[in-house]
Amino acid sequence: MTSHRKAYRAAILHSLADPAVVGIEASYEYFEDGVLVIENGQIARVGHAADLLPTLKGVEVTEYQDALITPGFIDTHIHYPQTGMIASYGEQLLDWLNTYTFPTERRFEDKAHAADVAGIFLKELLRNGTTTALVFGSVHKQSVDAFFEAAEALNLRMIAGKVLMDRNAPDYLTDTPESGYAESKELIERWHGKGRLHYAVTPRFAPTSTPEQLSLAGKLLGEYPDLYMHTHLSENRQEIEWVKELFPERKGYLDVYDHYQLIGPRAVFAHGVHLCDEECQRLAETGSAVAFCPTSNLFLGSGLFDLAKLEHHGVRVGLGTDVGAGTSFSQLQSLNEAYKIMQLQGKKLDPFKSLYLATLGGAEALYLDDKIGNFASGKDADFVVLDYKATPLIDYRLQQAKSLAEKLFALCMLGDDRAIKETFAAGVSVHCRD
Ligand code: GUN
Ligand code: ZN
Repeated sequence: MTSHRKAYRAAILHSLADPAVVGIEASYEYFEDGVLVIENGQIARVGHAADLLPTLKGVEVTEYQDALITPGFIDTHIHYPQTGMIASYGEQLLDWLNTYTFPTERRFEDKAHAADVAGIFLKELLRNGTTTALVFGSVHKQSVDAFFEAAEALNLRMIAGKVLMDRNAPDYLTDTPESGYAESKELIERWHGKGRLHYAVTPRFAPTSTPEQLSLAGKLLGEYPDLYMHTHLSENRQEIEWVKELFPERKGYLDVYDHYQLIGPRAVFAHGVHLCDEECQRLAETGSAVAFCPTSNLFLGSGLFDLAKLEHHGVRVGLGTDVGAGTSFSQLQSLNEAYKIMQLQGKKLDPFKSLYLATLGGAEALYLDDKIGNFASGKDADFVVLDYKATPLIDYRLQQAKSLAEKLFALCMLGDDRAIKETFAAGVSVHCRD
């Protein structure tokens, strides 16, 4: 087989490990004038231009001026059917679901509508530099077919699943324990492990599933290796009280999922804003992950995520936008709000920790760090080119910056889709801004 090599030259930055574990300096690698070499859709090498260029005779080298190449961003929690209802006014979680979310998700019964929205959604992710996401569909299996068909056409690494919801929701949006199980199984058989696609068993949250449905969700996870489990946990105080009323025999919210064998490696819980120490401990010891969703937690008034506490317990944490409760597809904007959430708790969010959360940390939360998250050779060539001159203000601010940390921090605060010059998936350009 003839191998196909390509190279990209710019400043290059990627995470090597969690700064909370190894310290800031050992957590990243940076090449001021770097080259990223891609071979057959995978990372071949990364290094200094002076070292690598002489080895690349005959290889096409694309050069970017005033640009920074980083791994593609990873969004560990987002709802594609909620694209059209982002920025819906005035409600907190439970009223927001009833007022806006359920009527919007009803339309995904129509596969053609689902396909339209899936296309808009994926385009928006790529415009924002996100190359992998863990995605909620709607309760309709055809919504997940439409999503995976669109993701497959772009050869993206995506994880998604059909919502399981058999109570406390409108009739038009509920399944049954048996139909939810059977339809999930059908989707798993069709999509899990196909190309770069993975399936997530997706109970919406404890209040909208009966014990029978949660039980069958647990059974499904036991029947296939490497499936994901994706749900919500401890987002809002009223929600938590409701779970206690619905499951009085359980110790708490996480214990409901624990009881039905829905926790462990590749289980991802969105939010976790109000977790106790015991719950954090349990998440850590089972290898479960939490998706920190800053723009959503602020928009719905859910509360302030305690990253330091989850870090202290050693819980895997990824970053999520949670669109449509989140207000931006941009992980740079998520990091902007994450920084402020930390400030309100008297804590700091280091820019290299931010980089880690948006890339390698997300990959580790998803147990995909052997495939994505940084530029180790053999990983998928999913990367973004950030533009130091994206806006007049970013350009001017970065000219004042005296260090890489200062530049990175300013990009996280001021950047959004405008800062994403180009996005690559498996070595192929899938978004070009200009
Ligand atoms: N909890 C249950 N469903 C949802 C949802 O769609 N969005 C958010 N943010 N929380 C939820
Ligand atoms: Zn959500």
